Parts: sequence; C-alpha cells; structure tokens
Amino acid sequence: MWCCELKALILAGGYATRLRPLSYALPKLLFPVCGRPVLERTIEHLSSFGVDEAILAVNYLADQLREHFGEEYHGVKIRYSLEPTPLGTGGPIAFARRYYESERLLAMNGDILAEIDLGAMSRLHESNEALATVALHEVDDPTPFGVVRLDERSKIREFVEKPKLADAPSRLVNAGAYLLEPGAVDRIPKGRKVIIEREVFPALAGEGRLSGYVHSGTWFDIGNISDFRNANFTLLESEASGKAIVGKDAQISKSAKLDFPAIVGDHATVEDGAILGPLTIVGRRARVRRNARVARSILFDDSEIGSESSVEGAVIGNSATIGGGVVIHRGSVIAGHAYIHDKVRLAHDVYVHPYKEVDEDIASPGHVV
Ligand code: GDD
Ligand code: MG
Repeated sequence: MWCCELKALILAGGYATRLRPLSYALPKLLFPVCGRPVLERTIEHLSSFGVDEAILAVNYLADQLREHFGEEYHGVKIRYSLEPTPLGTGGPIAFARRYYESERLLAMNGDILAEIDLGAMSRLHESNEALATVALHEVDDPTPFGVVRLDERSKIREFVEKPKLADAPSRLVNAGAYLLEPGAVDRIPKGRKVIIEREVFPALAGEGRLSGYVHSGTWFDIGNISDFRNANFTLLESEASGKAIVGKDAQISKSAKLDFPAIVGDHATVEDGAILGPLTIVGRRARVRRNARVARSILFDDSEIGSESSVEGAVIGNSATIGGGVVIHRGSVIAGHAYIHDKVRLAHDVYVHPYKEVDEDIASPGHVV
C-alpha cells in the first residue's frame, strides 16, 4: 500500500468540549475505539502508506499524548509541536512549519477515524495540479461539517463551514484530511488563531486551486459522545461480528458469559458469573468483578465494575471505579478516575465528572460535578 513519502501533521489540540465530561481528563485522541485509542489506529493506517513521520500539533493535555506515543509509534517517528495558546485548525499547521519546511504535507483532524486511500488521493492531487486537496465523505446531515460543491473535474467550487441546511451546497463534507502544497500553507496567516476551513479553503475554492477526493469507505467522526458511541458500536459489529475478541493475557472465568459482539482488552479480567454483552467493549487492564452485568457499554482502560453491579448503555472512563451492587442506566457517562460507591443507583443520562466520588443515589439525569 506504500504510496508516497509524506509527512503528516495531526491536529491533536483543542478542548473537546462536546466530549465532556470524559475529555476534561483525557485528550480526545486517546479516546478508545474498540479498545484502542483513535490515534493509534490513525498512525497505523498512515504507516501502511509509507508515512514515516507524524507531527502532533498539541496543547491541551499534551503530556498524556507524549507519554502514550513517545518518540516513535508503529515505526513512525513522532514529533510534538506545542502551541503556546490554541491556534485553531490552521494556525498549528503554520506554527509547525519548521518540521516540514517546503515539503507537501498531509494534515489531518485527529478526531476522525478513516481508512482513506492516500495513494489515490495523491494521484488526484497531482493530476489536478491542486494547491490543496481535501478528502470528502457523503453524509446524511452535512450541517455540522465543512460542505463543498464539487465539479466533474473534482475541483471544489465552493467550501462552506457548518452551513445552515438551506445553504449547504451538497451532502459531501470535509472528511478532515488534506494534502497541502507549501503554497497552500503560505496562505495561512501566521502568529494567530486561524480556522483553515473559514479563512483559507473558501478562498482557494474561489480560485479553483482546491480539489476534492471522495472517500466512500469507513469514516467516523468521534467529536461528540453520541458519535463516539456510534463509531465504537458500528466498528464492533464489523470487527467482532458473531464473536468475542479477547486480548492478550486477558483472564475470563469459565463461568462468565460473553454475548456477542464483544471485545475484552489485553490484561483485562472478567470474574466468575459475570455477564458481558451484547455490544460491550472492555478496555485494557479493566476488571469486571463477580456476577456483574455489563451490556451495550464502553469501559475505558483500567476501569473497574464491582461485583453484582449492573451497567447498561454507559460509558465508563479510564481508571473509574464502580463499586459493588451499583446500578447504572442507559446514557450515563462516568468520567475518568470517578468513584461510584457500593449500592449507588444512577438514573439514565447522569454525567459524573472526573475524580468525583458519588455516595448517594442520583434519581434524575444531569451532571454530577
Ligand atoms: N493543535 C490544535 N490547536 N488542534 C486543534 C485546535 C487548536 O487550537 N482546535 C481544534 N483542534 C483539533 C481537534 O482536536 C480536531 O482533531 C481538529 O482540530 C478539528 O477540530 P474540531 O473542533 O473537532 O472541528 P469540527 O469537528 O467542528 O470540524 C472539523 O472537522 C469536520 C470533520 O470531522 C472541520 O474540519 C470540518 O470542516 C470537518 O467537516
Ligand atoms: Mg471534530
């Protein structure tokens, strides 16, 4: 699949407000999709096309990304470009220029999961002699995205960021991956916050210098909790259809029951009598204690579900602890390092913030801060 000597720049900053409360303590690129951080999957994909260096444009919670990926991951050299203040989606590309100087760059939003054919995209970029090429994907509702009008020669004639439905020129949206020539990077104003989708792409489209490569395969955006769940469950149904995938050194008691599809991560433990699934993902080193029942839920790494507890349709953050005999209903989100005491019952759609201890029942939906 090797295609091109390319450096990649991955936008990995921003506050991920739509993923709160989970994102207060965990950068969104470390959010797991079927048990593995979205950025691990992206770097592996880039590596399969010959990308050998990735620049992570970071700010908020940068240390966790640095700790996770270090200097190299999956044969790809990792560099970190730390912005003094968040510079938007274009500013970080200009700010990191010293790392790629005058080479063509693949720039990407870090919060998408997409198996884009970079070889085909590069060929289109070259044959159109584009200054920049944007990967596109067709969706039902284009309004939360950048939306384009594409002509028959794959040139983007119009680019509108987050339009009203009536103003959307099509249902083809910016999939969040760009090939940029140095001349396109030159168009990003330096030294300030720049939203590339508002300040640069519309202008390039107007000049006929922006191409669009339609990607029709897998594409997920994990930018809010509902899309994050959807990415996990859709991929789970395809990766673990009719089975359970069990990671390295995971320990599953013989008396535990797994309903498919399910994934149990490396070094996780599922104790006697526990019932998991359907549609359940257990993170690395997570523990599901005796007789616990977990369905339609995502458990992040190092979380724990106490014995006799029942968790249905929830997201449990990294290192969160759910005590024994707890009941958690659909739509609830327990952020990282939170602690739910024994026998507590939570209503549906309760959002518990990181490091919070809950020692009494919560009877109605809302945030526990
Ligand atoms: N380094 C850095 N600094 N990264 C940032 C900053 C910042 O100040 N702000 C946002 N990012 C990163 C986010 O982490 C994300 O990976 C990417 O830039 C895009 O920002 P979002 O805030 O997630 O944008 P969006 O989802 O509303 O819209 C973008 O993505 C859509 C596709 O998912 C746009 O590019 C749309 O046009 C596109 O359709
Ligand atoms: Mg996004």
